[in-house]
Amino acid sequence: MIGVFDSGLGGLTVLRALAERFPDTGFTYYGDHANVPYGDRASDEVVDLTRAGVEALFSRGCHLVLLGCNTATAVAARRLQQSWLPNSQWRSDHNILGIVAPTVEAATQTPWAVTTPQDPQKHNTDRIAVFGTTRTIQSDVYVEEIRKRCPRVRLTQQICAGLAGAIEAADDEAKLEQLIKSAVANLLQKTEGEAPDQVILGCTHFPLVEHLFRRYLPTTVDILSQPELVAESLADYLARHPNYACQRQTMGLHMLTTGDPVLINRRSRVFWSDVPPFDSANQTPHI
Ligand code: DGL
Repeated sequence: MIGVFDSGLGGLTVLRALAERFPDTGFTYYGDHANVPYGDRASDEVVDLTRAGVEALFSRGCHLVLLGCNTATAVAARRLQQSWLPNSQWRSDHNILGIVAPTVEAATQTPWAVTTPQDPQKHNTDRIAVFGTTRTIQSDVYVEEIRKRCPRVRLTQQICAGLAGAIEAADDEAKLEQLIKSAVANLLQKTEGEAPDQVILGCTHFPLVEHLFRRYLPTTVDILSQPELVAESLADYLARHPNYACQRQTMGLHMLTTGDPVLINRRSRVFWSDVPPFDSANQTPHI
């Protein structure tokens, strides 16, 4: 069983790509709907909430947890991997993965392990745009990791304040469209009208409204599909770490929420019509 964590519904975009890529694998999804959105929270709070979600998934038998959330990855992944996990009861055979690495690899066409500019740098002069939550953009994680590998890339970032929250609240399409239209206009103002070559939707909620980004971005823009990139990257990771692949006996999707399962079932089906029903995460796990 592999765990997938998100602040709310956004990680479903990742989970759906994983379920398609690994039909024989069991996944437990944990949506922290009681605390969504994370994007404007203080960093320490994001770390604490992410750690609680990871522990809940570990307690339910997941040995590997994928953070299907850019905000949690940007703010908490490294701290949990380097400071918390090695000192926890889970240290010997559990791990936590984030989703920034596969996205940066795709944007730069450079393996994550390579942290210096290579020659030739395939996309070195590309203009790349990143949309994300306040916390993800302010972390500068995409800027730092892309520039290490392709220093001449022209990067522009745009905070989409309130968008993840509006998606969670199932706000009507007109409101979502307005938020996206103004985020794209702000971005294009920063680039002085020049279209990006690639766009990273650096929040897993945003692929749920990718059609609205498409409507306002110039038609030449290539939107990197983070859920598929993450699924491919997990396949590669499991091939290199068969000990986690061995944990895959339990098939199916198990859905947990810290929020109200009835409400979350209704909202998640707007985006994924046959998503399995959510159970409450606030019950003691039986493993
Ligand atoms: N889906 C998340 C992300 O990828 C978090 C959005 C939020 O909770 O603000 O950043």
